[in-house]
Amino acid sequence: MSSSHDTIRAVSWQNDGLQLLDQRALPASENQLHYTEATAVAQAIRDMVVRGAPAIGIAAAYAVVLAARQAYARAGANWRHEIEMDLQALAAARPTAVNLFWALRRMRAAFDAIQGDPVAALLAEARAIHDEDIQANRRMGELGAALLTDMAGVLTHCNTGSLATGGYGTALGVIRSGWVNGRIRAVYADETRPWLQGARLTAWELVRDDIPVTLLADSAAAQLMRSGRVQWVIVGSDRIAANGDVANKIGTYSLAVNARHHGVRFMVVAPTSTIDMQITCGADIPIENRDPAEVLSLGGQRIAAIGAEAWNPAFDVTPAELIDAIVTERGVVERPTAAKMSALMNGTDCA
Ligand code: MRU
Repeated sequence: MSSSHDTIRAVSWQNDGLQLLDQRALPASENQLHYTEATAVAQAIRDMVVRGAPAIGIAAAYAVVLAARQAYARAGANWRHEIEMDLQALAAARPTAVNLFWALRRMRAAFDAIQGDPVAALLAEARAIHDEDIQANRRMGELGAALLTDMAGVLTHCNTGSLATGGYGTALGVIRSGWVNGRIRAVYADETRPWLQGARLTAWELVRDDIPVTLLADSAAAQLMRSGRVQWVIVGSDRIAANGDVANKIGTYSLAVNARHHGVRFMVVAPTSTIDMQITCGADIPIENRDPAEVLSLGGQRIAAIGAEAWNPAFDVTPAELIDAIVTERGVVERPTAAKMSALMNGTDCA
């Protein structure tokens, strides 16, 4: 993989603090924000400074380091007790992306072995979570790209790239790998109302890494599929239930219904940290409802008629039966079922 196709990192540990590329301002400006307090990171997650399920988890892991540093300075050996409020604030930041809770659980599991100052050990754990995510993305990139045949046209939704992860991306990682390996002919990206992650973030990443991209309004996707220009829809996920139902950015479900109707294949790319075996099916996944103002306005300008109300679910659930493949770092689950998801997570074979 040429490094020119993977140059962006949105989350990093710099100068003893957490640095986040402010994704609200992209692509107009590239502002790096510096954080030294966990509650400020929780607010940044809520406000979409950092977004995308794996990136939220990684930012929260680094925030635990910030919380532990302050708790240890305040309370010494009693830091584990002192840190609880910050852990709760982080867990409350956004409800759907399970990677957030997964990362907090993993950081908490590291507490037990620590004696004395916790900062070095927790920073090592946060860095491991970050590095493992990039490795998982590269592996999923290979596995997902191998599924593409015949110089595919691909359609993606939201932003699932370096900005949404530790680096490289999930669905966008497959697109990066597929492009470099000559398996992709054309990349289409939905603009992704209301936050425009496709138009602002995915387009910015791809242009910057020299991968041509064509944007379309979300409502143009069915017509694109009927035109025969795309063979695969490739998306990420915020949480996958034990039966293979997938929560992802609002609009994903419509794409899956349209894809099945038009004979277009549907691929979900997500690390196993996105799989929640405690949730039996998609109906039980908590779906974040965001401020109606995000729909009623655009770029801070009111666009809807005064008096209109708005419904603004940030995610929807795509049933497993509409999914052709779930690509994880542990392998590919074709036509997911509860038995196949369980076999993947337990490391057993399931034909
Ligand atoms: O609201 P967002 O921008 O955090 O939503 C992001 C998505 O829905 C992504 O598709 C998902 O987190 C997977 S990112 C690798």
